[in-house]
Formats: sequence, C-alpha cells, structure tokens
Amino acid sequence: MNEQQQKMENIISLAKRRGFIYPGSDIYGGLSGTWDYGPLGVSLKRNIMQLWWKMFVDEREDMHGVDAAILMNQKVWQASGHVDTFTDPLVECGECHGRFRADKLENDQKCPTCGAEHSFGEARQFNMMFKTNVGPVDDEASVSYLRPETAQGIFTNYKNVVDTFYPDIPFGLAQQGKAFRNEISPRDFIFRSREFEQMEIEYFVDPAKWEESFEHWRQQVWLWTQALGLPDDQVHELEVPEEDRAHYSKRTIDFEFDFPIGREELLGLAYRTDFDLMNIQRAAGRSMEYTVKGSNTKFVPHVIEPSFGVERTLMAVLSAAYTEDEVNGEKRIFLRLPHHLAPVKFAISPLVRNKPELVERARDIYQRMKQVHGAVIWDDNGNIGKRYRRQDEIGTPYCVVVDFETIEGDGTVTIRDRDTTEQRRISVDDLVSGNI
Ligand code: GAP
Repeated sequence: MNEQQQKMENIISLAKRRGFIYPGSDIYGGLSGTWDYGPLGVSLKRNIMQLWWKMFVDEREDMHGVDAAILMNQKVWQASGHVDTFTDPLVECGECHGRFRADKLENDQKCPTCGAEHSFGEARQFNMMFKTNVGPVDDEASVSYLRPETAQGIFTNYKNVVDTFYPDIPFGLAQQGKAFRNEISPRDFIFRSREFEQMEIEYFVDPAKWEESFEHWRQQVWLWTQALGLPDDQVHELEVPEEDRAHYSKRTIDFEFDFPIGREELLGLAYRTDFDLMNIQRAAGRSMEYTVKGSNTKFVPHVIEPSFGVERTLMAVLSAAYTEDEVNGEKRIFLRLPHHLAPVKFAISPLVRNKPELVERARDIYQRMKQVHGAVIWDDNGNIGKRYRRQDEIGTPYCVVVDFETIEGDGTVTIRDRDTTEQRRISVDDLVSGNI
C-alpha cells in the first residue's frame, strides 16, 4: 500500500470511528454504493451545502432556489435523452459472472475478481437509472425513475419561475438534493456511490453571450474551492474533449482534485446550449421562449451548468484537512478544517469531573456558548490530553477548559488552538462574543 492509499484508509477509518460516515445498512452486511452519515458527517455535509447556498443563492441578485420532487413524469427522462443514452458499457466474466464497467477495466483480457483470462467480448449498454412504478399498477404508464441528476427538476420549473418571477436575463436556478445512479462499480469510499447528493445551477443566458457567463462561472468555481480550503495547486481544470462530453454539452470543463485515490473529477462546468429547453418545448408543446424586458427580442435561453457533487466535495475537504504531525514526541492526527465548515466549533470541558462547583460553572459557560454558537459540545470524558486528541481528530478549532482560576481567580478560561496546540487565557465574555 503506498502513502496515498494508506491516507485514504486512515480517512475512511477516522470517518467511521468518529461518527462521520458509516457504510449503508452496515448492521445487515451493507448495501454496495450506499453510505450513512453520522452526527458529525451530517453537520459537515450541511455546512458545505449551506455555504454553497449562501455563496450562490443568498448573496446574489440573479439566483433563485427550487426544490423539485425526486419522482418525475417519465416524459422528463425520455425528453432529456436519459432513457436512451444514460448508459455505461457493461461486460460480464464468463467464469465468475462478475460484472464490470468496460471503460474502467485495467486489462480487458483478465477478470479483476477471479483472475480468469479471456476476452470479455462486446459490451452491452446498461442504463443507470433506477426504475420504479408510481401507484399500485405495475405497467408501462406508471413507470418512473429515481432522478439521476437534479438538473431536470430545474429545467421543468424554468417556465414556472419565468411566469411567476420574470427575472432579468441572465438568471440562474439552483437546487440541492439527492440523485441516484445504479453505478456498475461503486468504488473509492463515497467517491462513486449509487445514492448521492448534488448541488446544481442552471444559468439561463442570451445565446449570444454564453461565453462570458461560462467564464464567470469558471471563476466562481475557483472561489468555491478556495472557500472549502482546497489548495489551488490540488485543483485542476480539464477541458473535456468532444468525444468524452455528455450528450448535451458543447463545452465542458471538469474540475479535478488530487484525491488520495488519484486525480479525479470533483465537479463539472458545462455549456448545455438550449438542448434541454428545446427538448421540453418539443415534448411538452409549450414555448420556452424568454422575452427580454422592454423589447421584442425573444429567444430560448442557453444554459451554463455548474454541477457539484456533495460527496466528492466532502471527500476533498476531508482529504485536504487530514493532517498528521507530532506533539511532544507523540504522533497526532487532526483535521485542519476551515472553521466555518467544522462540525463542532468549540468543546467545553471542566478540568476535573469531581468538583461540583467547577462542573457547574463549566455547564453554565457551555449553555451560553450553545445559545450563541450552536455547534458546541460538552466533553468531560477521560483526561484533558485525551479530550484534545479526540477533538483534534474531528477538527474542532477550539477546546475550552474551565479550571480553578475560572472560579477562584480572574474568571478566565483556557482556550486551545487546534492547529498550533497553543493555549492561552481569555475572558468568558470574549469567548461568548467570539472575540478570540
Ligand atoms: N447535471 C449534470 C450532471 O449530473 P455529472 O458529471 O454526471 O453531471 C455532476 O455529475 C457531479 O455529480 C459530478 O461532478 C460528481 O461530483 C457528482 N457525481 C456524479 N456521479 C456520482 C456518483 N456516482 N457518486 C458520487 N458523486 C457523483
């Protein structure tokens, strides 16, 4: 195992040990390609998703949010091309009957599971959408799919939003939510899952001006990766060649990240042209034209789509934050998470547990901190050194200890910085008001 593989193993192990991410249905032996978020994982994930919403919806004038149903009329997926083309090439081993994605096989003459040497033959196209039926009748008319991208829930609401809000063009619609793909080979922790979450923007533009909006979103993506604390030199743009682009795209830049599993796609920026709105116009028989305010100029807008996967973002954040160093001759693991993403901001401890006066004062400070900062935990387990190690591993920026000086001396508490491990004294008022 090389250093990066070991790092990946360490992150997976920490994620489970500390309650970030567990294998899905673990208690029944798991369900491949699914993951469950524990108390810290759900906080980290929400912090990422809320930051995205703040940056791309709340802080902008040209963006609106939507939240469409996951189950949609099957016509959505026929018109979008997903029923016909959302496929991966599938091959099967004649010996062990293992099934693999043909384009991901390292050696197309040897089965990666049983080692049998043979040709896999012609790949068949496997549609990755999960099919289901809506209602009690199991027939063609009731067929629906778990959405494989959140984007279509935005396109199908474009007309609703234009009719109710009539935003100036260019404008964007944003959505966050679950997406499902029946991946042939889920792999690499949460990187390729069968159920995952997306954060997508469809940005509607004048067809003549698509390039400037594409450039704008390219810069926004860099601001986003910086806000996540990802080092610029670990993020790379890949201009996707025509033959590798999705069926709807005329230009795509994949933003890749140097994960411990290698350089892989983190998110995508695509120029979807009028592909989706024209398909809807044809299939639904409704005009998708936009009339520019105060003029007779009409057009079906073109679309720039920045598409972000939450799981890959979270995995990049964990990878960038995972750090090992040495403190007083002992190895230490800590998550150097940006403070605004850390699931816990402060851990409050009494120096000892058997002095009621001390514990009471510490509880009082803890309650005040919780009211103001929310993500604050009480930690009185084990000795102070163990508490620091535990908090370092979950990325808590500050540990606060209430000691005898707090109750008998000048009322200050000790605050310890996660990254430097330095400790200093601070007044409780400064602590509560965040004046640190
Ligand atoms: N609407 C465009 C679209 O869905 P995509 O490149 O197929 O484009 C966008 O997916 C993002 O969704 C990817 O960059 C990735 O972050 C995430 N994603 C896609 N498939 C995934 C999977 N199986 N597991 C985890 N994340 C996935």
